Amino acid sequence: MNSMERPDLTAVPETALWTLYQRSVEARRPDTVLHDPKAVELVDRIDYPFAERFGTSGVQAQLQALRAACFDREVADFLAREPRGTVVCLGEGLETQYWRVDNGRARWIGVDLPESVALREQLLPPGPRRRSVAADVTDLGWAEEVDRSRAVLITAQGLLMYLRPAQVRALIAGCAERFPGGSLVLDAVPRWFGRLTLSGRVRTRGYEAPPMPWAMDAGERAKLRSAGPAVAAVRDVRPTGGRGLVGALLPIALAVPPLADRRPSVTVVDFADRPAQP
Ligand SMILES: C[S@@+](CC[C@H](N)C(=O)[O-])C[C@H]1O[C@@H](n2cnc3c(N)ncnc32)[C@H](O)[C@@H]1O
Repeated sequence: MNSMERPDLTAVPETALWTLYQRSVEARRPDTVLHDPKAVELVDRIDYPFAERFGTSGVQAQLQALRAACFDREVADFLAREPRGTVVCLGEGLETQYWRVDNGRARWIGVDLPESVALREQLLPPGPRRRSVAADVTDLGWAEEVDRSRAVLITAQGLLMYLRPAQVRALIAGCAERFPGGSLVLDAVPRWFGRLTLSGRVRTRGYEAPPMPWAMDAGERAKLRSAGPAVAAVRDVRPTGGRGLVGALLPIALAVPPLADRRPSVTVVDFADRPAQP
C-alpha cells in the first residue's frame, strides 16, 4: 500500500477529504453502521492532518455514514433491477461506494472537478468498468460520456448544496431530459444549516465548512417536481439502523415536527419515460 504526498485541495474539493474521513472514522468501529474498509485504507495512505483539521466526532461520523448508507441502498436496489446498468456519481470525490456495492457487472462513471479527479485517479486508478470524467457537473457535457442504451442511476451525494439554486434546478431538469426513465438520488442540507454556512458559522477546529448556497427543507421536497416537466416523482429515503443515541433520536427527528420537516434529507427524483413517438 503506497502512501502519497499531501493533497493540495482547498475550498469545495477539500470537502471530499472531510466526507472520506467521516466514513473512515465510523468504519473503524467494530459496531459500524457502514463497512467501508477502502475509506480506512485511503485515509491511512493520504498524508493529510485529518483529525487536526476536521476534529473527530463519533456522532458526525455516524450521521455521514448513515447518509452514505441511504445512497448505497438506492444503488443496490437499482443494480438488483438493472445488473448491467450504469451508476453515474456526480461530485464523486473520494467516495468508495464502488467497493461497498458493486455487483461485478455494472458500469461506474464519476464526475468531479479536475483537481479532485486527479487525486482520485492517483489513489484509485480507473478499472475496466469504472472511470472518472473531469468536468463541472453544471455543464452537462459529461452526459455525453454515458451510454444511454443502458439503464442509468445518477447520484449527487454531498454535492448540490455547493451549487447555486438555479444551477441545481438546471442540473435536475437537464438530467431528466437526457436520461428518461432514469433517477437521481440527491441529498440536501436544511435551510437553517445553509444559512449558518453562509455566515461562516459551521466550524470545527481549524476548518470552516464552505458556503452552501442551495438548501432545501425536507418538507419542501415536492418542490423538486417543478424543476422541469420531465421530473415524474420524488420520494424520501430515510436512514435506518443508527446506533446508540443517534439510533434512539433518529426516529423522533424523522417523525416529529418541526425537526422532521427541517432535517437533512436524501431524496430520489424519478425521471419520466420518453413519450412514445407519434
Ligand atoms: C462533500 S464532497 C462529496 C464527495 C462524495 N460524493 C462523498 O460523498 O464522499 C463534494 C464533492 O463535489 C465536488 N464538486 C463540487 N462542485 C462541483 C462541480 N461544480 N462540478 C463537479 N464536482 C463538484 C467536489 O470537488 C467534491 O469532490
